[in-house]
Amino acid sequence: MKEINAGLIGYKFMGRAHSNAFRQVNHFFNADAKINLKAICGRDKISVQNAASKFGFESYETDWKKLIDRDDIDFVDITSPGNLHSDMALYAAYRKKHIFCEKPLANDSAKAFEMWKAAKAAGIKHQVGFNYRFVPAILLAKKLIDDGRLGTIYHFRGLYLQDWIVDPEFPLVWRLDKTVAGSGAHGDINAHIIDLAHYLVGDMKKVIGMQKTFIRKRPIVETMDGLKASGSSDAALGEVTVDDASVFMTEFQNGALGTFEATRFATGRKNGMSFEINGSKGSVKFEFEKMNELQYYNNDDPATEKGFRVISVTEDSHAYAGNWWPPGHIIGYEHTFVHEMFEFVQSIANDRAATPDFEDGYKCCRILDAVDTSIKDGQWINV
Ligand SMILES: NC(=O)c1ccc[n+]([C@@H]2O[C@H](COP(=O)([O-])OP(=O)(O)OC[C@H]3O[C@@H](n4cnc5c(N)ncnc54)[C@H](O)[C@@H]3O)[C@@H](O)[C@H]2O)c1
Repeated sequence: MKEINAGLIGYKFMGRAHSNAFRQVNHFFNADAKINLKAICGRDKISVQNAASKFGFESYETDWKKLIDRDDIDFVDITSPGNLHSDMALYAAYRKKHIFCEKPLANDSAKAFEMWKAAKAAGIKHQVGFNYRFVPAILLAKKLIDDGRLGTIYHFRGLYLQDWIVDPEFPLVWRLDKTVAGSGAHGDINAHIIDLAHYLVGDMKKVIGMQKTFIRKRPIVETMDGLKASGSSDAALGEVTVDDASVFMTEFQNGALGTFEATRFATGRKNGMSFEINGSKGSVKFEFEKMNELQYYNNDDPATEKGFRVISVTEDSHAYAGNWWPPGHIIGYEHTFVHEMFEFVQSIANDRAATPDFEDGYKCCRILDAVDTSIKDGQWINV
């Protein structure tokens, strides 16, 4: 069997999720190539050495250029913060390495555009980490829409609600620093529901938004892991330079209306990503924290039976479900990364385009930027 050597940059939240996916792909899927965990990269030697041994990588590097330069690396997986994505991806494209890059593709759409063009010109496979496209229930929603079961689409209503920084004492982690993260809730979590809207409903025509930073100063950060962090014990405070919440409205090219709300201040909501789509013949509703279910309303049902039905998306006939467990044996967050990595491996092994690719990543960044411009100019912005 063909073998594909992975070079992973980053070993924390997404680094952990992706390296777990590398290990699971060939265990559960009949992929046309085997992923080798060849090398992992981080800046701190001891930490990256520990990560290599814990995750099962053969070797490590402390300089991402060295990782990309290695002849035994076939694809580069970028899980660093957004400010580094473009330098890393442009260099990987230059070295003709396939690239998997986490979202948002870049911190602005000009950089994302450059990445897409460079990847295309290099003839490499490129994929962006919109993992929610690989949730079986969302794939069922896509199928129902594509089969015309919802009819003409009128509404997309997307929410991405978290509360991990509602405490004003939560420290100033990199996600709250514009120079590193690009934006706050906007690029971090609006990006996901924007991509799902593109995937399920189509392109947007115009946007107008509103953003708010509720807490402007926070303690300087001392440690961070995933979305957990601790602050310094002295009284030093630093400036929050990104949005805490970002909402916007859109009209899609097909005439549907869309509303988006992304916030880190929805007290009680942890990873409350949800959407509802209403069409002339029916509706679908999805909530990530019940990710094995899709709610579906069929307007053709007899009047006495009309109502949202809950479909458990765990049958063999549902996307990816048959690769895991018997029906009703549910899957979780980490499986979305296995699915996306399986598709990426297939694209390399069979020399076919990966999806969602850097064009999708760029299109998402373009909407993020257009919303920012609408806020700055106080008016609708045509996309
Ligand atoms: N798809 C998703 O659902 C999802 C979820 C969380 C984060 N993300 C995205 O993944 C990316 C990373 O987020 P995270 O939560 O994993 O962050 P994190 O802080 O947990 O990890 C970032 C990693 O990047 C490494 N890094 C930073 N600078 C580096 C450098 N110069 N050289 C090598 N390594 C470097 C750090 O050592 C760390 O291992 C972001 O773009 C984020 O938006 C996506």
